[in-house]
Amino acid sequence: MNFKKEESLLANVKTAPRDAILGLTETYVADPNPKKVNLGVGVYYDDQGKVPLLECVRRADEALTAAGIARPYLAMDGFPEFVRAAQTLLFGADHPAVSQGRVTTVQAVGGTGGLKVGADFIRRFAPEAVLYMSDPSYDNHRPLFEEAGFRVETYPYYDPRTRGIRFAEMLEFLRDAPKGSVALLHACCHNPTGVDIRGEQWKDVIKVIAERRLIPFLDFAYQGFGEGVDEDAEVARRFARELPLVLVAMSFSKSFSLYGERVGSLSVVTADSGEAARVLSNLKRMIRTNYSNPPSHGARIVASVLASPELSALWRKEVLVMRDRVRSMRRELVERLKKRIPADFGFILQQRGIFSYSGLSREQMVAMRERYSVYGIESGRICVAALNPRNLDYVADAIAATIALSAAERSKPRAAA
Ligand code: LMR
Repeated sequence: MNFKKEESLLANVKTAPRDAILGLTETYVADPNPKKVNLGVGVYYDDQGKVPLLECVRRADEALTAAGIARPYLAMDGFPEFVRAAQTLLFGADHPAVSQGRVTTVQAVGGTGGLKVGADFIRRFAPEAVLYMSDPSYDNHRPLFEEAGFRVETYPYYDPRTRGIRFAEMLEFLRDAPKGSVALLHACCHNPTGVDIRGEQWKDVIKVIAERRLIPFLDFAYQGFGEGVDEDAEVARRFARELPLVLVAMSFSKSFSLYGERVGSLSVVTADSGEAARVLSNLKRMIRTNYSNPPSHGARIVASVLASPELSALWRKEVLVMRDRVRSMRRELVERLKKRIPADFGFILQQRGIFSYSGLSREQMVAMRERYSVYGIESGRICVAALNPRNLDYVADAIAATIALSAAERSKPRAAA
């Protein structure tokens, strides 16, 4: 049966904007070019260009399958062994906030799920709060927090001139932010720039947060890809020691290479154990009314790995292998670019995590995609973890040719008006 347009109740539904990251993957998948390279989505690939199955995950998964575990519902806040393990991984074995009962942790549907449950929760207790995120930030931050009902603004962060942080400006800005605003921060491996707040700079950030009574929300999706598993967690540990409130969304997608299992957590550090219990009751309600309870398999795998001294030692080694491969890809890319173009790309070596803010313009990123099928985010972000010995030369050629082309276009005499 054919319905007339005016009969449709959906006639006024407008097309939603394309997702900057996953929308690009859709275009990549449809691209017939056999040489295509996807440097868009933030996924770690191995030297063969494959998403690795970590050996620790394979062993834990095999043991779970051999045990023939049934699939009951999990509790609203998740698989208890996973929740405990995630909390310990984040805060360490004997963190005072944990021993004082000030921390509540729930399992989440990936890091994004942790951000969303946290966003819904903040909206509930601080409905007027404005959310401040870094300029630039992860492409899904703005839509996620806007969909949760926040007004989203940015604080100064990346300086394209120095390729560092506009740290003094950032602090000054946050010092003027309305009391009770949310400050969204990247715990390590800043997405998209790869440029992190470091060491004692965090002391100043924490001071401003305390003075302005801001609500800090840490996005922690790349544990182990910066300095190391514990080193990267130090930011969250410090916030939890020094502040009465902090939210941390954690992802296990990258660190355990468990992307499709959607394993994540949300921890809320509070002022005391009574507050923590009340917060937990609210988080459970958010979860129950959104998706009831989280999926179990990935959480069981992570819990098994972290419960076994042997498997968790193996996991730590495997994370370091991934981190070091990304570092070597940074070096290889910089070497190749040096041979092809005079521009200095040494800054790529200073960036941390799986991304590099290449400095290429939107037009250059589009040209690189259209001419060479090399896909990166239009902001200039490229996923260094998707480089491998087979695609490095091709990518370096594409970057060099794109830069040369725009230089040639710039030097063309302007046509008379
Ligand atoms: C990214 O930044 O590309 C990743 O975190 C994947 C995602 O879900 O956006």
